[in-house]
Amino acid sequence: MRLPGCHGVPTASGALLLLLLPLLVQLLGAPRGVGAGAGAPAELRVRVRLLDGQVTEESLQADSDNDSISLELRKPDGTLVSFTADFKKYVKIFRALILGELEKGQSQFQALCFVTRLHHNEIIPSEAMAKLRQKNPRAVRQAEEVRGLEHLHMDIAVNFSQGGLLSPHLRNVCAEAVGAIYTRQEDVRFWLEQGVDGSVFKTLPKDTEQSLLPHCRLMADRGKPCVCHYGLSLAWYPCMLKYCHSRDRPAPYKCGIRSCQKSYSFNFYVPQKQLCLWDEDP
Ligand SMILES: *[C@@H]1O[C@H](CO)[C@@H](O)[C@H](O)[C@H]1NC(C)=O
Ligand SMILES: *[C@@H]1O[C@H](CO)[C@@H](O)[C@H](O)[C@H]1NC(C)=O
Repeated sequence: MRLPGCHGVPTASGALLLLLLPLLVQLLGAPRGVGAGAGAPAELRVRVRLLDGQVTEESLQADSDNDSISLELRKPDGTLVSFTADFKKYVKIFRALILGELEKGQSQFQALCFVTRLHHNEIIPSEAMAKLRQKNPRAVRQAEEVRGLEHLHMDIAVNFSQGGLLSPHLRNVCAEAVGAIYTRQEDVRFWLEQGVDGSVFKTLPKDTEQSLLPHCRLMADRGKPCVCHYGLSLAWYPCMLKYCHSRDRPAPYKCGIRSCQKSYSFNFYVPQKQLCLWDEDP
């Protein structure tokens, strides 16, 4: 699936639609998305094709001061999915704002936050992301690479009021999800080694051992605890830098990005099936 290396000036054909422009862009006047002042995050809006074939707009923001990237997209059913990568703290945060079905007596929306360890090479660096521009904003983008579905078993709760100790982004991103912020034992172990305070994390009650709990889908009683499932996808994101070679330069140089798509499947404890109503047979 690797594209042949590009030689000399990258062409606009095929996948290489986004160019990493050097400082020149800023000198020539800021195109859309470049913040008014220094330090403001750079924003790129792209049209992307979702897994079901529908098209939506996705916003990608890079803040090189905070060394973070965020991505946001709205699904056709109204769900707002966002992803934040905090490179400083090795943290990534997924958030879903799920619209409730009012006629079923559900609240207006429900928020979920899933926090896991950010590894190197999952997404391009924020400083490269901040320089991305597109030639054709109307183009509908489809990821060049589909990365495998990742299953995550979320067995630890994150205490919102302590969340800033893990990542400063948590307070903003997960403010609506207080009480529904989840992570995993293996990620917690890593962050503790990095010096994060243990008060951020809370083991879910032992008497509700997740493996013994039924899946919410299989349960009738809406007042009982169960294991809920939620799946989400990042439709399009720059996952790797591409390097080009030129006779005029001594070394390969950054000349574009490779785009990826990735889906995640989360399992997590809910104290009442009531909080997991999407996970239900229609
Ligand atoms: C979250 O942490 C604060 C401070 O340690 C504590 O007072 C509070 O009870 C904790 N909340 C939960 C839900 O455990
Ligand atoms: C990003 O950095 C600025 C300036 O250092 C700070 O004011 C802001 O709160 C930071 N944002 C986040 C989400 O950490």
